[in-house]
Amino acid sequence: MRVVVFESAESVTQFAADQVCRVIQTKNVPTLGLATGGTPLGLYRELIERHRKGLLSFKHVNSFNLDEYLGLSPDDDRSYHAYMRENLFKHIDIDLGHTHIPKTDRVDLDQSACEFEKAIADCGGIDLQILGIGSDGHIGFNEPGSSLASRTRIKSLTQRTRADNARYFKCLDEVPKMALTMGIGTIMESKSVMLLATGESKAQAIRDTVEGPISAMVPSSILQMHPQTTLAIDTAAASSLKNIEYYLESEQNRVAQRTTVNIS
Ligand code: PGA
Repeated sequence: MRVVVFESAESVTQFAADQVCRVIQTKNVPTLGLATGGTPLGLYRELIERHRKGLLSFKHVNSFNLDEYLGLSPDDDRSYHAYMRENLFKHIDIDLGHTHIPKTDRVDLDQSACEFEKAIADCGGIDLQILGIGSDGHIGFNEPGSSLASRTRIKSLTQRTRADNARYFKCLDEVPKMALTMGIGTIMESKSVMLLATGESKAQAIRDTVEGPISAMVPSSILQMHPQTTLAIDTAAASSLKNIEYYLESEQNRVAQRTTVNIS
């Protein structure tokens, strides 16, 4: 696990945008896994900016979003379909036919989940999965207790997640109770993973992710088993890490070595 700690959320954003650009520019048909929530908003703004400056095209990009609420139509402002439209897709040159968000506006949700998994496989898998993290360690909407081998399916949201997300709704009662989410096993099949976290409210979850035991009670801890995982976090999110000195030194070594050997 590579843990990269930055002084500010803005530096996390720049680093994350560089990683996304690298995947888009080195693959013929790049496939990105996208996240919603507050954390990736800066990243999406930066990608839009680079696109506007002519530095980045999404023409050949496929994308797969982690999750969608049940009970909100794609037109609903609070849906993740709307989030992606407003915060990224309408500002860039991505082919909307190549974007995939779990479909929850249909009767057969198991079928929807199967089709989503098949579409990922048909694209040859996800090259880079971007993740946020819940304060309880969830990734996607895989709440504590989720099978670490799970596939795309329906999950109930915890009260804590609903409370965390209530800021996007008029009141807590309006927050959906269920979602269709990419599974943890699905996420783990991504070729690389980049988890972003900023702010002190994520410090405990980050500590449990990096330094805790692997446990279904902290879904993000399974990333310890992924060979290409990078955590890009700010100092506030890193503030509970015990081995912080080691992570900082590892990055300094990496920078020093980059001048002499070929490492990314
Ligand atoms: P946030 O959500 O980026 O809004 O903090 C992250 C998540 O719940 O995965």
